[in-house]
Amino acid sequence: MKNPSAAAGDSVDRDRLWRRLMEMAAIGARADGGVNRQALSAEDARARQLMVAWAEELGLEPNTDEIGNLYLRRAGSDRHADPVLTGSHLDSQPSGGKFDGAYGVIAGVEALEAIARAGVETRRPIEVVAWTNEEGSRFQPGAMGSAVFAGDMDLPSLLPITDRAGISVETALRETVAATPGITTRQAGFPLAGYLEAHIEQGPRLEAEGLTIGVVTAIQGSRWYTIEVGGEEAHAGTTPLAKRKDALKAAVAMVGALQEAMADPTDTVRFTVGRFEVGPGSPNTVPGHVLFTIDFRHPEMATIERLTGQIEPICQANAQGCAVTVALNSDTPPVAFGRDVIDTVRRHADNLALGHMDMPSGAGHDAMHIAKLCPTGMIFVPCERGISHNPAENATPEDLAAGARVLAAALVDLANR
Ligand code: GLV
Ligand code: MN
Ligand code: MN
Repeated sequence: MKNPSAAAGDSVDRDRLWRRLMEMAAIGARADGGVNRQALSAEDARARQLMVAWAEELGLEPNTDEIGNLYLRRAGSDRHADPVLTGSHLDSQPSGGKFDGAYGVIAGVEALEAIARAGVETRRPIEVVAWTNEEGSRFQPGAMGSAVFAGDMDLPSLLPITDRAGISVETALRETVAATPGITTRQAGFPLAGYLEAHIEQGPRLEAEGLTIGVVTAIQGSRWYTIEVGGEEAHAGTTPLAKRKDALKAAVAMVGALQEAMADPTDTVRFTVGRFEVGPGSPNTVPGHVLFTIDFRHPEMATIERLTGQIEPICQANAQGCAVTVALNSDTPPVAFGRDVIDTVRRHADNLALGHMDMPSGAGHDAMHIAKLCPTGMIFVPCERGISHNPAENATPEDLAAGARVLAAALVDLANR
């Protein structure tokens, strides 16, 4: 018989993978072709029900843990061996695409089906995981599921966090998990033999190079902040400018000064203000309250420290008499993957005659938390014009299948060690 990795890779079915991706994309589908399937929402619960239905169809064992990560387990021949894990997330941005996250989960399901159809047995179990709340758009911070699994966040501190409607993680998690009743619960953090996550690149490099596979070597670090500016509400028609504490005017000055301080001729620094809320939001009241967020990213810890160290002083210097609070919501250091999984992914891309390149990830992924627990790696496939976090996100069935082939082959390899 052909070697088992090659047999598994060859059994990946492009159309079956695409069909599952489109079936998932229908859950939370937006009229513009995108997806709104935010973490722990009714749509997220339906996505999990679909996963459990696939598990039944494929004879996989579904189970969950205290933060709602959902696992589908394929047994190995050695009942006592630690599993190899693959997957990503099913939650999306509010105006997200069909592939960010969902691809990694569904490529994992496809890999397990391909392995079974190829008649391949592995020594270790292989499990597909859908991590809870990777995006962090509804509940901050993101990557809650993988961070709890890795011990980087503790569950009790996450449960009281609320979304903008005041619904807590605790309530939303309870309702979401209740939608897939009767499945076993185990404790997050169980031992892993390896973790491999497939994902669309979310950037333009593979497409520009005409290559199919990104062999991911590292993930840049990130820090998220919430800044609140407290001024004084006042009548817009009568209050002299000198007497105002205009929270919006101060916040705009802060953001302008921060953008100047973060300017980087090498275009390596990533600084984004993605949320900006003004209260009370009335045309004829001087704004008394502003909340804005910062997403800061860089590959080097020293630069992260140096530049984020300027955030609070710059905000204070531009407060214009308003009160300012700067809260750090998440702090994820840069992560470098180990040589072993990197080499494994590259070797299987070579075996499958797929063009590939080594590359770091600009986006965050659950793999950044899992990397400290076990040998970890990622596989990227191209996406159209590098567009992501956008309803227009797109990728070709061929490229997505190629990534799933590398995934299936590499999983068999890792699960037979
Ligand atoms: C995940 O979507 C990220 O923010 O990088
Ligand atoms: Mn993602
Ligand atoms: Mn994302």
